[in-house]
Amino acid sequence: MRIDLQTPWRIRDVEIPSRVVLAPMAGVSVQAFRRQGRRFGAGLVCSEMVSCAGLQHRNERTLGYLKIAADEHPLAVQIFGSEPPVMAEAARMVESAGADLVDINFGCPVRKVTKTGAGATLLEDPARACAIVAAVADAVSVPVSVKMRRGLEDGSRAALSVGPRLVEAGASSLTIHPRTAKQMYTGAADHALTAELVELVDIPVVASGDITSRARAQAALAATGAAAVMVGRAAQGNPWAIGEIAREDAAEPTREDVAAELVLFMRETVRELGEHRATGFLKKFYGWYLGRGRFSKPFKQELVRLETIADVETRLFAEVPGARFALSRLEREFPAGDEVLLDLPISIYGGG
Ligand SMILES: Cc1cc2nc3c(=O)[nH]c(=O)nc-3n(C[C@H](O)[C@H](O)[C@H](O)COP(=O)(O)O)c2cc1C
Repeated sequence: MRIDLQTPWRIRDVEIPSRVVLAPMAGVSVQAFRRQGRRFGAGLVCSEMVSCAGLQHRNERTLGYLKIAADEHPLAVQIFGSEPPVMAEAARMVESAGADLVDINFGCPVRKVTKTGAGATLLEDPARACAIVAAVADAVSVPVSVKMRRGLEDGSRAALSVGPRLVEAGASSLTIHPRTAKQMYTGAADHALTAELVELVDIPVVASGDITSRARAQAALAATGAAAVMVGRAAQGNPWAIGEIAREDAAEPTREDVAAELVLFMRETVRELGEHRATGFLKKFYGWYLGRGRFSKPFKQELVRLETIADVETRLFAEVPGARFALSRLEREFPAGDEVLLDLPISIYGGG
């Protein structure tokens, strides 16, 4: 069965124009990443997880804040925490900042998060997990979605028992990354479990994990009955993967395209995070963009060693002069949007 990835689908009343969702990734899913994802064909984009603890510790203003642009919609903002009333309050803030969906993180496997009773540990505490979903769903009028792993320990199938209860509590969509928290990113995502979850609930399920090509996306949708696939690592420094998955006619990028997208990404990220934070943040993206045989290893290493973002730009343009033209076209077509600032700290912890 071939599934058209361009068919719109819905989470309650939110229409999502394609079956490709850009994954929330801490330390990655900045506004530039989300806008780019939409531009390349993702029907829905997600913020990285934002900490509800920020509400209780309003002074901890060290991590930067989520900025939402007008052209990101539909957008899910993901929150994590363990206290239902605090999560409800965070959800209200997220809704008033303009999110189309509030997404709850029950997937983060990182110890710093799980030890606070948040993230994937909630799969082992279904009563609390349901209380969180119910409190959040009560607090907002936008749909609430949940993103989860399959469970905590080897072989766990907790998501299958918890999932339907979360729906009863008020979740309008579930995303499953069918690895256990213990697995982190090892082994393979077992989408047989996704198929089982789809059978158990009558709301849209999104399949996350190891979706790296159009063929894999088609196969996962056909085998699981999921409403959409989520793409994470394959899109890091590689929006063309989203294009390839979402659209039949997507073209391979030229070196000019790659350098121009990278510079646009750098400029937008500086606007969002400020020069200082962006400088360190961007380093991992140089390797991601310029890898995959697109540029030589010594060139990538040279860029990472450069001190300022301006130096990186200059060096990129010297290597690929045609990128200037490609960049001005992109900046003309996709000018920076108006930004809404959401006053919640962005998590420094990765994983989900
Ligand atoms: C660097 C990184 C950060 C992540 N951060 C989050 C997060 O904040 N929230 C979340 O739900 N999942 C997070 N995830 C999990 C992804 O959303 C996704 O479920 C997972 O990477 C599997 O999909 P993939 O194989 O397409 O990468 C993160 C993954 C990575 C690699």
